[in-house]
Amino acid sequence: MTSPIRIIATEDGSQSLYNEALNETYHSTHGALTESQYVFIKQGLDLLVERGETKIDIFEVGFGTGLNALLVQEYAKRNPQLTISFTTLEPFPLSTSLISELTYDQLIAGVSREDFEALHDCAWEEQVNLSPNFSLIKHRIPLKDFASNLGFDLVFFDAFAPSKQPEMWEIALLSKVSALMNTGAVFVTYCARGQLKRDLADLGLRVETLPGPPGKKEMVRGVKTANEKP
Ligand SMILES: C[S@@+](CC[C@H](N)C(=O)[O-])C[C@H]1O[C@@H](n2cnc3c(N)ncnc32)[C@H](O)[C@@H]1O
Repeated sequence: MTSPIRIIATEDGSQSLYNEALNETYHSTHGALTESQYVFIKQGLDLLVERGETKIDIFEVGFGTGLNALLVQEYAKRNPQLTISFTTLEPFPLSTSLISELTYDQLIAGVSREDFEALHDCAWEEQVNLSPNFSLIKHRIPLKDFASNLGFDLVFFDAFAPSKQPEMWEIALLSKVSALMNTGAVFVTYCARGQLKRDLADLGLRVETLPGPPGKKEMVRGVKTANEKP
């Protein structure tokens, strides 16, 4: 059987994946690397670091190619004062042959092929220290099955688009994510749907609509200020 997932080139020269069954890409076709750097690093991680936080627990929905994790690992290397732990979910891991054809490490200064491979090769369900101030734990489960006693400081909500995977954007799962966030925690996503903004506000997040990455007018950031409205 041929895999329904194949590599595509995006406009900034970085790769993404196309899932034929869903007719959906893993990143913006206007630039996968540019989108990840802008949505998750600049509008997410940078905000916490600018606030002076040094111990940062990140929760990602959708590990996929590992691009966001790789960018965070590179960030941690440049910022040795930080201690970052990265928790990610992926119920549909990529095949090793597909991973072997991904070349993000060649586009990101400061990370090696070994760094990229280690993200994918490390065990599931186990926290591993991949560099002195960056640890990773990957869970091979869908968001609906995830439970944790940890509180997270930053959420990368990188699910497929609401038109392709609507259940991921329903209030039941958003509420679950919100419950995992510490007060002051930041939620970022490439999506800017009105219903998402209303739902996040109802869950006690202060919602901002920010300019989007290339090819997208807007994106959403939310900061957890309180518990769910009674
Ligand atoms: C838009 S892609 C982004 C992936 C990744 N962040 C990247 O940069 O490659 C969405 C990812 O969510 C994963 N996914 C699908 N259903 C999921 C679920 N129920 N819970 C968590 N992740 C899911 C997909 O397999 C896919 O890897």
